[in-house]
Amino acid sequence: MSLYRNTVWFLKGLREYTKGGYESAARYFVAEDLQVDVTGKSYMITGANSGIGKATALAIAKRGGTVHLVCRSKDRAEEAQKEIITSSGNQNVLVHLLDMSNPKEIWEFAEKFKTENRLNVLINNAGCMVNQRELTEDGIEKNFATNVLGTYILTRALLPALKHEEDARVVTVSSGGMLVQKLDVSDLQFETSTFDGTMVYAQNKRQQVILTEQWAKSYSKIHFSVMHPGWADTPAVRSSMPDFYEKMKNRLRTEEQGADTVVWLAISPAAIKNASGLFFQDRKPVSTHLPLASTHSSHGDEEKLLQILQDMSLKFAPSPKL
Ligand SMILES: NC(=O)c1ccc[n+]([C@@H]2O[C@H](COP(=O)([O-])OP(=O)(O)OC[C@H]3O[C@@H](n4cnc5c(N)ncnc54)[C@H](OP(=O)(O)O)[C@@H]3O)[C@@H](O)[C@H]2O)c1
Repeated sequence: MSLYRNTVWFLKGLREYTKGGYESAARYFVAEDLQVDVTGKSYMITGANSGIGKATALAIAKRGGTVHLVCRSKDRAEEAQKEIITSSGNQNVLVHLLDMSNPKEIWEFAEKFKTENRLNVLINNAGCMVNQRELTEDGIEKNFATNVLGTYILTRALLPALKHEEDARVVTVSSGGMLVQKLDVSDLQFETSTFDGTMVYAQNKRQQVILTEQWAKSYSKIHFSVMHPGWADTPAVRSSMPDFYEKMKNRLRTEEQGADTVVWLAISPAAIKNASGLFFQDRKPVSTHLPLASTHSSHGDEEKLLQILQDMSLKFAPSPKL
């Protein structure tokens, strides 16, 4: 990554991604956008037991939606469920246990979920930044397995359920960190390239943006969006980026501020007035590239990414589904 790109990005972050950046942007928010009753609609949120995912789940539960919390830890999930039910008074908050780094489990979960539930909106929020190269039990690099392959499989497997619903949406929580990365499909699991957790994460988040753009082209009945929550004070930031956290802790957004655009994209009528497939920050579509940065994908790489993910995911599918 170039020093130029890194510097421009960090300065942009100080201006826009902090609590101050949120407060400036929020002056232009339309309060009525979130005054929506979503009773009768069904929302799935991955990684909903903490941080942005939990704040999103609570905001939707407060507006009457049925919320499916998809989490890997039973204890953490049930604790969040209790808290959300108590704060919202909404009993329709359900827990599903799923490890988003396990492709076979994701397929099985999605196939079963579809037979038992309706789904209006999928929110791909679970994410990680593992700083040492680690493999899952299937031998897949952990960040890629969770952030990219897991997101891809869950979304693809749930598309048939979403397609049947009016106003179906898929919202993916990416990161502004992706702005420093150009899509690189040559070594998706960092088998030979230098492993730097922050850059691996940023590359994964770039891939989520590309996936969203591609899905939007292929599935016109569903509204796809991808977004950056800003820099929010969450367990992931504290544990995966301790130096950044120490420097920035007084300027970070709250979890609710980080979740604001996720909620807006998931429930507001205003959000779907924008085209499908865009990248959002503070309720606005924004560029997926920094000015003058050479991060545009090389010819054919976006299709190649889709092909690789399709091939990998099929190895774990219960039966040919794609
Ligand atoms: N906070 C920020 O400043 C910021 C900035 C840009 C993007 N984001 C993105 O925002 C999203 C939410 O993160 P957060 O900041 O709110 O952090 P968080 O509170 O730590 O939430 C991350 C969630 O993902 C879950 N998760 C991680 N790996 C999983 C797996 N293999 N299977 C199932 N669930 C898994 C975590 O579960 P456990 O509790 O079990 O670990 C947790 O519920 C992530 O996609 C992150 O990349 C955050």
